[in-house]
Amino acid sequence: MMSFLRVPVLTLCLILSLAFMDPSKHSRCSAFSMSMMSATTPKVVPKGSAAKPYEKQKVAVFGAGGYLGGCIYGFLQRAGSLYGTGISGVGGSPRAVVATSAGSVSLNGILSKNFILAQADESFVKLTNMTSVDAIQSRLNGFDAAILGTRFTLEPRPVTLGSYEKSPNDKTMEFYMERPRIATVKGVDDTTYSLQLFNNILQACKSEGLRHLVVIETDSEFDTDTVAGDKYLALLEEVGVPYTYIRPVGSFENLKEYTYAKGVQSTLKITRPTSLEEFQSGSGTLYREDFAAVCVQALLSLDWSDNRVLQVEPVGSLDQEIADRAIPQREWCMNSDSLQELLAVAS
Ligand SMILES: *[C@@H]1O[C@H](CO)[C@@H](O)[C@H](O)[C@H]1NC(C)=O
Repeated sequence: MMSFLRVPVLTLCLILSLAFMDPSKHSRCSAFSMSMMSATTPKVVPKGSAAKPYEKQKVAVFGAGGYLGGCIYGFLQRAGSLYGTGISGVGGSPRAVVATSAGSVSLNGILSKNFILAQADESFVKLTNMTSVDAIQSRLNGFDAAILGTRFTLEPRPVTLGSYEKSPNDKTMEFYMERPRIATVKGVDDTTYSLQLFNNILQACKSEGLRHLVVIETDSEFDTDTVAGDKYLALLEEVGVPYTYIRPVGSFENLKEYTYAKGVQSTLKITRPTSLEEFQSGSGTLYREDFAAVCVQALLSLDWSDNRVLQVEPVGSLDQEIADRAIPQREWCMNSDSLQELLAVAS
């Protein structure tokens, strides 16, 4: 049945995309395949940025030099290049906020390898004095949403010349959204500094009037048996910027030889706990790439004016049949429609 439908849709998509080389026309093609698809899959109405694709939202990612943050940035950049997502890909968006050029170099390594020669130059990556709320706020000018972790890996670094150094000997901490896989990062785990960083980011987001935060509970990467949510949720409630707080249930790993064209690789379970007692910990393997796609899909799909806590748990690998039907160049992440449905059901 599926292949019967799929062949004419794909053929028509190819004809349309050859006929109209203007990238803005691609949406017609995907809108058409969506309506064909609705005969077999329930249609999910987006309530996030994708609800109004013409109002392009600017999104900042904090600590994008690590692999999780880099994947989130890469997916956002792809979403920003396609019509229909409501994510801005111009005017410095998406923006990566890092502390030094080390973060920028690391992000660009991830983009060129895992996002197939993508890159982010200095109009997209901002080296920022993260100990100053004002400095962070100035990097968010005109931005609508931000994505951050709760606990950062820190790395002592000299302040990059020409960014915000006062003297050639100024030192700072590069920060990564969670625990980076690269052995070259000599990470320091300083919970006091990390919490201050989290607070500074929240204050800056509030002062700049951001409308939504996606916050990833990264604590389990440091202490596997802590349930850390209450502290951060209390801070988020206090600050009052609407949030989607996402808890990974399981431990992060990277997929081998990953590129965005491979898309979502696992079947996930997404639940919405209503109290701290329902917070779970788990020992399953959660791929950073899939988790990054959930974070971006949350911005596209979910109502920005609501607060919510979500738990994401790995269940198994994804049925390959779903993986075959789309064209990588037309998708910000292959198979992300499976995430859209999961998020719609959970929230
Ligand atoms: C970063 O900001 C803090 C707080 O405003 C300030 O004390 C410090 O000197 C700044 N660091 C640099 C290197 O500019």
